[in-house]
Amino acid sequence: MDFSTIAGIAGGHAEARAIQVATSLGLFESLSGTALDEAAIARAVGCDRRATGLLANALTAIGLLAKSSGRYTLTAPAARHLLAGGPEYLGDMILFDAALWSEWGRLEDSIRSGAPARTPDFFQSDPAATARFIRAMDSLVRARGDARWTAAHLDLSGVRTIADLGGGPGTYLAEFVDRWPGLRGELWDLQPTLEVARRILAERASGALARIELRPTDYRADRLPGPVDAIFMANIIHSEDEAMNQAIAAKCFSALAPGGLVAIKDHIMDRDLVEPPAGAIFSLFLLLTTRGRDYSFDETAGWLRTAGFVDLALTELPHPPYTSAIVTARKP
Ligand SMILES: C[S@@+](CC[C@H](N)C(=O)[O-])C[C@H]1O[C@@H](n2cnc3c(N)ncnc32)[C@H](O)[C@@H]1O
Repeated sequence: MDFSTIAGIAGGHAEARAIQVATSLGLFESLSGTALDEAAIARAVGCDRRATGLLANALTAIGLLAKSSGRYTLTAPAARHLLAGGPEYLGDMILFDAALWSEWGRLEDSIRSGAPARTPDFFQSDPAATARFIRAMDSLVRARGDARWTAAHLDLSGVRTIADLGGGPGTYLAEFVDRWPGLRGELWDLQPTLEVARRILAERASGALARIELRPTDYRADRLPGPVDAIFMANIIHSEDEAMNQAIAAKCFSALAPGGLVAIKDHIMDRDLVEPPAGAIFSLFLLLTTRGRDYSFDETAGWLRTAGFVDLALTELPHPPYTSAIVTARKP
């Protein structure tokens, strides 16, 4: 690592904020299919001309805009991932990150105290915050393609009913039922999340929605519904502590039919908890907002074995763009 790399990472918040603010202002949409100068962009987004020019120049330096003869256009990656409504739009995830800016400002407090910077309520107490969170999950998974990859590689032959525990927007379930004719899905999540999921699925996957049952479930407080043939959970164990993850593994075991499959998708870390790097860094976000962190394969496998599961296996998704892996196991 050299000076420029260290300095670039240490100042990375400036680039992050430039992208977040441009997304929030609708600056990328103002350039959809057109080239504008700074005055025209400023008029379109309702901002100061000089300041908008500085933001546009910064976005050009980052590589999201191109500038020629004083006029700006979107680069190909920006057109692909930053125009609202596109199939690989990342903007909802960027807006969620922007909303958590003040939590990052309290990282030092959390490191000193060990406590999160906000109540870890999964954004369930305010409908606008729930929608921002759940749309962010949908946006990230669709933009990067995790759900498509998982549906293509997770063997669900012989599975008639699959539950997605903490399935959020239902992005994975919609891909699963599309990929496997005859498969029925159950989305097990908290009621405020399910209300957002129903809207998202109705907007763009109404065929899949007809084959998915939305079942209000609290995996902390309730027994899980069932029996089902498979339980999938993505980005769930990283939000909980070790004791709750052991309890979730036991609840999944009870909710599965004999021979049933459990599949856990997450950052699955090495023993030192430093690889993959994205998981080690994401654990700081989890410290700020949840009771969890990213866990190793040994830790995850330990919960599953203690619950009674057998045939444990680890499948790593190809990196880049993916940073996660899937741990599978069977109920005997
Ligand atoms: C990080 S999101 C993951 C969403 C989805 N699995 C994905 O990977 O895109 C965590 C999900 O867990 C849900 N959740 C949190 N606590 C829960 C609980 N006690 N019972 C059921 N679901 C819960 C949240 O509503 C949210 O949908």
